[in-house]
Amino acid sequence: MSLAGKTVVVGVTGGIAAYKAAEIVRLLVQRGAAVRVVMTRSACEFITPLTLQTLSGHPVATSLFDLTQESEIGHIRLADSADVVLVAPATANFIAKLAHGLADDLLSTVLLATRAPLVLAPAMNVHMYESAAVQENLATVARRGARVVEPAVGSLACGYEGSGRLPDPAILVDEVARAASTADLAGRRVLVTAGPNREPLDPVRFISNRSTGRMGYALAAAAWRRGADVTLVSGPTSLPEPHGVRVVRAVTADEMHRAVRAEAKSASIVLMAAAVADYRAKRVATQKIKKGKGGYSLELERTVDILSDLPAARGRIVVGFAAETEQVVENARRKLEAKGLDLIVANDVSRRDAGFEVDTNEVTLIDASGSEELALASKDEIADRILDRVVRLLVERGAARRGRARRRS
Ligand code: CTP
Repeated sequence: MSLAGKTVVVGVTGGIAAYKAAEIVRLLVQRGAAVRVVMTRSACEFITPLTLQTLSGHPVATSLFDLTQESEIGHIRLADSADVVLVAPATANFIAKLAHGLADDLLSTVLLATRAPLVLAPAMNVHMYESAAVQENLATVARRGARVVEPAVGSLACGYEGSGRLPDPAILVDEVARAASTADLAGRRVLVTAGPNREPLDPVRFISNRSTGRMGYALAAAAWRRGADVTLVSGPTSLPEPHGVRVVRAVTADEMHRAVRAEAKSASIVLMAAAVADYRAKRVATQKIKKGKGGYSLELERTVDILSDLPAARGRIVVGFAAETEQVVENARRKLEAKGLDLIVANDVSRRDAGFEVDTNEVTLIDASGSEELALASKDEIADRILDRVVRLLVERGAARRGRARRRS
C-alpha cells in the first residue's frame, strides 16, 4: 500500500509513547508519504525533534512562532498541505483541548485549521483513559468526524495493566492509509476467504495444500483500507490478522462452507481466494493409523464446491481464483462460466515468483468483457488492482441498473 503523493502531518503530544512516533514516521516515509512532524512542547521532553527531523527529512515544527517567521502564515499552510493528520500519541490534555476547540499551541491550531481527515491515537494510563472526561471528549471529536483508534491492551508504562497503550505503529500507518484512500468501497460489506483447508485423516495427520493465505489476507487488508466492512473467513495460516478486519476461522472445507454461507448473505462482494480442499477422507480414523508392512490406500470423497453453493443475492459481485499449472487462461475461463462468476483471477501456480508461498504474484483478470494481464507485483499491489476491477464492475452494474429503470419509467 503506497502513500506516494500524500502529505501526512504527524502530531506528537507529551506522553511516554511519544518515542514510538519515530517508528511511525519511519514507516510512513517508507510507504512514500511526505511527513511533516509537529510536536508539542511536552512531547519534546520525551523525544528530541532532531530524531523526528532526521527520520522525516524535514524540519520539525514545535511552536507557532517558528512558522510565523515565514511570509505566509505557516500554520495555515501546514494545515492545508495535509492529506491526513495523525496525532500519536494523543494525551488526555490534548484531547480535551481538541474537544473544546482551544488553539493555544501550534498543533491544536493546525487541527482547527485543517480540513484533512484526522486520525487520533489516545495513549495514557488506563484509569485516565476510562475516565468520564476523556471518554466524553473522545466521543465529541469522533462525532465531529475524527477517527479514534482504540488503544491496545497490555502493560502500561505507569505499571498498570489495561487499555491505554499506543497501538502498533503498523496499525496506525494502516489507519492513515484508510483515511487517505478514495474510500471507493465505503459502505460495502466484503467477504474474503483465504488459505488452505486441512482435511483430517486421523488425530495427527491431515491433507492440505501449499496455500499460505497471503493473497486473501492482502485482499482483506486492501478492502478495509478502501473503506469496506470486511469479514475474512480464513483457513489455518500463520499470518497476523489484518487490522480492522473481522476474522472467522475455518479448518475444513465443510467448516469454510458453513462460514461462507452464513457471511455471504449480507456481503455485496465475495472474493474467494481460499485454496479449498476438493477431497476429504471418506472415513476419519479416531485413533492414530498404525503403519503396516505394505502400502496404504486412502479412500477420498468430494467436498462441496463452496462458490457454486452461495446463497442467492441480487447485485452481488463474486470473484473466484483459479490455481492452474497448465492452460491457465482457458481453464480459468471455464471456471468463470461453470461457477457463474463475475470475475476470475487466474494464477499460474507452477511459477516460482507467483502463486503459493511467495510475496509476489502475476495474474490474469478474466470477466465477460475480456482479459487483462497484471504484471508481476507484490500481493498487496495485486490486491488493489483486483479491487480496482471490482469497483469498475460495480460502477458498470450501477449504470446498467439506472439505464433499465429509466427505460421502464
Ligand atoms: N472453490 C470452492 N469450493 C471448492 C473448490 C474451489 O469454492 N470445493 C473455489 C476456490 O476458492 C476458487 C475457485 O473455486 O475461487 C476455483 O478453485 P480451483 O481450486 O482453481 O478450482 P476447482 O474448482 O477446485 O477445480 P480444479 O481443482 O479441478 O482445478
